Amino acid sequence: ERPIGIQIFGSNAESMKEAARIIETDFHPDVIDINLGCPVKKVTKTGAGAALLKDLRKLEGIVKGVVSSVNIPVSAKIRLGWDKNNSIKVSKVLEDCGISFLIVHARRAKDGYNIKADWSVFERIKRNITIPLVANGDIEKPDDATYLLNEIGVDAIMIGRGAIGRPWVFGKMKDFIKYGRCSAEPTLHERIKVFLRQIELMEESIDEERTVRRIKKQISYYLKGIPETKNKTHEILTTKRLDKMVSLISGLISNTYIAGSRRLYPV
Ligand SMILES: Cc1cc2nc3c(=O)[nH]c(=O)nc-3n(C[C@H](O)[C@H](O)[C@H](O)COP(=O)(O)O)c2cc1C
Repeated sequence: ERPIGIQIFGSNAESMKEAARIIETDFHPDVIDINLGCPVKKVTKTGAGAALLKDLRKLEGIVKGVVSSVNIPVSAKIRLGWDKNNSIKVSKVLEDCGISFLIVHARRAKDGYNIKADWSVFERIKRNITIPLVANGDIEKPDDATYLLNEIGVDAIMIGRGAIGRPWVFGKMKDFIKYGRCSAEPTLHERIKVFLRQIELMEESIDEERTVRRIKKQISYYLKGIPETKNKTHEILTTKRLDKMVSLISGLISNTYIAGSRRLYPV
């Protein structure tokens, strides 16, 4: 699947350069993204992630270093600032460092997820830079996408939580952007099929224990709003073995009551 990007975070310019070189050589992504937005303490206490938004000289050293150490495009993902919104200034600094595009999650680090993303800032950032701007934060519905792309004029959108347990959201958004209407909501059968495929892909890349943990985290998103699956969800969540879990999830499809229902469940 292309294009793919690999994100790195850190606070030491030399190790970031080294990491970028290793990634370019060993994994051949299309883009390397620098994480300048993570507000998690484990990350920021080392001076990385969103903490770099407080120290623009250090940020500049890291970003310039990474850009110059690889031959592929480098992007950066920021929040609006640490405790103050300095995103206009930061975006210009980043453009001058040579990044190829900028992703902005429209909240400050100190906001966590406690307030709504402030989309009003995208227009001002866009006016201030010439590289493409990717908008992020609380984008969930197809008309969020068309508003940001057509009315605000951002170049692309990024969806995070809105895609958990509903990876088809990208197809729906693309349809809406292209044709002005959405494809139908997936049926339960279709949802389970997608989840089973995701599980297969997880099994290919991570061990059983982590796959089980991720299934437990995601199942409630996949089955959200489908009351008929409630009892089974509990059984799945209390299972430790992957094969049992997969068979219980597959069983949701063959359950005659549920499979017989062609109701479309809102997501
Ligand atoms: C569980 C979880 C893990 C995340 N991990 C990362 C990460 O590794 N790097 C990153 O840049 N953002 C990360 N984010 C932030 C999202 O990429 C995104 O910026 C944020 O959730 C806002 O977008 P949304 O409202 O579409 O979810 C993470 C978010 C969540 C919920």
